Amino acid sequence: MPGSTFGTLFRITTWGESHGKGIGVVIDGCPAGLPLKAQDIQEYLNRRKPGQSRYTTQRSEPDRVEILSGVFEDRTTGTPISLLVYNKDQHSKDYSEIASCYRPGHADYTFDAKYGFRDYRGGGRSSGRETIGRVAGGAVAARLLSALGISFCTYTRAIGPVQIQNFSREEIFNNKLYMPDSEAAEKASEYLESCMAAKNSAGGIIECVIHGTPAGLGEPVFDKLDASLAKAVMSIGAVKGVEIGDGFQVAASTGLTDNDGFHIRPDGIIEKTSNHAGGILGGISDGSDIILRAAIKPTPSIASEQQTVSRAGEEITLSIKGRHDPVIVPRAVVVVEAMAALTLADALLMGSVSKLENLYKIWK
Ligand SMILES: Cc1cc2nc3c(=O)[nH]c(=O)nc-3n(C[C@H](O)[C@H](O)[C@H](O)COP(=O)(O)O)c2cc1C
Repeated sequence: MPGSTFGTLFRITTWGESHGKGIGVVIDGCPAGLPLKAQDIQEYLNRRKPGQSRYTTQRSEPDRVEILSGVFEDRTTGTPISLLVYNKDQHSKDYSEIASCYRPGHADYTFDAKYGFRDYRGGGRSSGRETIGRVAGGAVAARLLSALGISFCTYTRAIGPVQIQNFSREEIFNNKLYMPDSEAAEKASEYLESCMAAKNSAGGIIECVIHGTPAGLGEPVFDKLDASLAKAVMSIGAVKGVEIGDGFQVAASTGLTDNDGFHIRPDGIIEKTSNHAGGILGGISDGSDIILRAAIKPTPSIASEQQTVSRAGEEITLSIKGRHDPVIVPRAVVVVEAMAALTLADALLMGSVSKLENLYKIWK
């Protein structure tokens, strides 16, 4: 299956299925000398681990990462970094019924249309567990970026109709929904309870703010930074929309409002006076915060009866058994951050050769 590799110079290849032996990633292109321990990657993986609350799947997986290669004496060696997480709590029996039919909102029908055969257990490669490889790879990318002063703040902006009204950075890790507003988190919990009682599910919006990116990252034309971020985030299962800066709101704006003016700071640095563009102009970072949002659809697996068809061509009704997230958003927060980190790490390495003076700094 092509399409499991992302990035040009900082490149990941992910592998593994939901109910196979394990899931993993190979990271190629990470510079040598970066301090890296399994715990750095584990902290990222723990943010997407199942079973964190009533609102995430009760599949009980420790998701312990093992570093197989590319790290020696807690530093990257510059060779491929191979990371592995074993699957422990597969209940493949739960999926025997769906082997012979197509779950609404899932990739069953399209995988069969494409391959004529699929690993139906837990959705195989199209499962949310596929994101383990992305998150593990993203943790390494984020470590590289952090060494260069680039940091992330990623959180839940909305669950269903409940939007955050206030912002407290500390609050993000105080509630299980990763919302920076405790009141909104409480309202969102009530909304989720009502969805669960109705055997239904919810979606939401994730926002990622990237701080400390220098001006000049991103390649013109096809590999623009905003285009690369959109591809990275849109490739996550259940993401149905991506916005940069004011996003879809620009359609109702005017040039006077939307344009960000420039001024010169007392230290001589050129800076924008506002940030409607979300930190990217002409596909190249402008030095202000990069602001990215992802719209996540409601979890497709729901216990309510739905209409579908069997592989044999009969019309049937189906209600999904098994353990599922009633909302995907909280677990996908770190997945969005990981994909953004991978995109920026790649852009940084690519950007290192954009000027002759950079080559002089290294080689002359
Ligand atoms: C972190 C994460 C966890 C997910 N968990 C579930 C789940 O428990 N149940 C489910 O039906 N879908 C889950 N999904 C979504 C499906 O994998 C996805 O909707 C499906 O493969 C169809 O792909 P599409 O929505 O991109 O079209 C999850 C996705 C992510 C990113």
